[in-house]
Amino acid sequence: MESTLTPEQAKAFYDRFGAKQDRQGFYENPARRDLIAQADFETAAAVFEFGCGTGDFAARLLAEHLPPRCAYTAVDISDTMVRLARARLAPWRDRARADRSSGSTTLEAADGAFDRFVSTYVLDLLSDEDIRGLLAEAHRILAPGGRLCLAGLTHGAGPIASLVSGLWQAFFALRPALLGGCRPIALCGYLAPDRWRIEYRNVRTAFGISSEVVVAARLDRKAGRRE
Ligand SMILES: C[S@@+](CC[C@H](N)C(=O)[O-])C[C@H]1O[C@@H](n2cnc3c(N)ncnc32)[C@H](O)[C@@H]1O
Repeated sequence: MESTLTPEQAKAFYDRFGAKQDRQGFYENPARRDLIAQADFETAAAVFEFGCGTGDFAARLLAEHLPPRCAYTAVDISDTMVRLARARLAPWRDRARADRSSGSTTLEAADGAFDRFVSTYVLDLLSDEDIRGLLAEAHRILAPGGRLCLAGLTHGAGPIASLVSGLWQAFFALRPALLGGCRPIALCGYLAPDRWRIEYRNVRTAFGISSEVVVAARLDRKAGRRE
């Protein structure tokens, strides 16, 4: 059975890792750019980000894509990351905040309070149960018509990327902490069709590392249609 890091282990890792997270951009940025191109951030009014890291993605959205009055709420389990994100988001402090969370996937946010739920390279380090719990919460805090915007490590597309993701998985099975707890997953597999309509899905491979990009619209659970 797969063993992911506990929230305490993840916090300890990312407290140490801190700003080095931004060095992962060499394989993460193509997927992030793809996500930005597909999630229509230009019309967003309130964004929630789970696991914001250094605030790099938030700052990029605020500087270049979100409307001037769009509010941004980010959470992260790591004190180091929250400190870095707060410094980065300072130019938008009137509408953007980064808060330290407990690591729980139960979110302190009201039902329907946001129209974008963003998480990049975080679900791939959560346990199966936590991914499902977090997606249930994303559904709860998204307003009718809201969008789920995800990117993360996935299984390799093509022979080189398959080899890399196979090696990654083998190494993860032995020493998950050395990989920051991240392993390739299939994000779409977690999206129940009666809760989410997948509007966009793509796999971007950079330097042999594949990332899945998903934009999904929140569906009304009872009616099974976009609200
Ligand atoms: C691989 S980093 C990705 C950071 C950022 N989203 C990015 O794309 O650069 C994973 C982030 O998730 C945070 N994290 C891990 N487990 C978490 C949890 N249970 N709750 C909130 N944040 C968590 C870590 O502290 C870290 O900042």
